[in-house]
Amino acid sequence: MQVRSAVFVTSAADSSGFLKRPIPHFVFAGRSNVGKSSLLNSLLNRKKLAKTSQTPGKTRLVNYFLINDQFFFVDIPGYGYAKVSKQEQEKWGSLIEDYLTETPFIGVIFLLLDIRHDPSVHDRQMIDWLRATGFPFRIILTKADKLSRNKGLQQQRNLAKQLGMSNTDLIVTSSQNGNGMRDVWTFLNQAFEE
Ligand code: GTP
Ligand code: MG
Repeated sequence: MQVRSAVFVTSAADSSGFLKRPIPHFVFAGRSNVGKSSLLNSLLNRKKLAKTSQTPGKTRLVNYFLINDQFFFVDIPGYGYAKVSKQEQEKWGSLIEDYLTETPFIGVIFLLLDIRHDPSVHDRQMIDWLRATGFPFRIILTKADKLSRNKGLQQQRNLAKQLGMSNTDLIVTSSQNGNGMRDVWTFLNQAFEE
């Protein structure tokens, strides 16, 4: 798919701000700092469309980006960031849950995991919840540039095993060097053909 246009539309702080336009929403979810905003930028070849930061907890709202006037990329807050108050964490948690349950047309939820780490308790909760609710989701491993090729393959196998999935279910990416972006687009193109 050729990206002809990618524009930031709006941010929502609660369900009164959610966009209900019935075009597919492709959602980037995962732990704080896992690389959601970076992946979105890298897929679109736009360095600063979604704001990124070394400090976890950068994205605090549901941010909508309209692509080709055809579908949304949605950047949502990360979960599991220990340094924000419990109250704040709960607020983000319910924002994410409200967004997912109130959006009419979720294309796919991309759940991002850092290739270097085992899934956290929160990651597992999220995956269990996605499985239970039946939302279409796909795991993307991020920051693959931080491991050697061999180590990366080893971690891909290891994580697949831990999650009860096959290796090819996990898309390996690096927003830093662009590896894996083609695989994510291949997956997105298939989602459109279905
Ligand atoms: P929150 O909005 O806080 O939930 O974080 P996020 O998941 O959107 O993460 P973000 O994209 O802001 O990236 C967090 C940090 O990881 C930044 O310093 C990025 O530069 C870095 N980062 C993201 N992706 C990659 C990657 O593929 N490789 C490397 N080396 N660093 C990455
Ligand atoms: Mg972010």
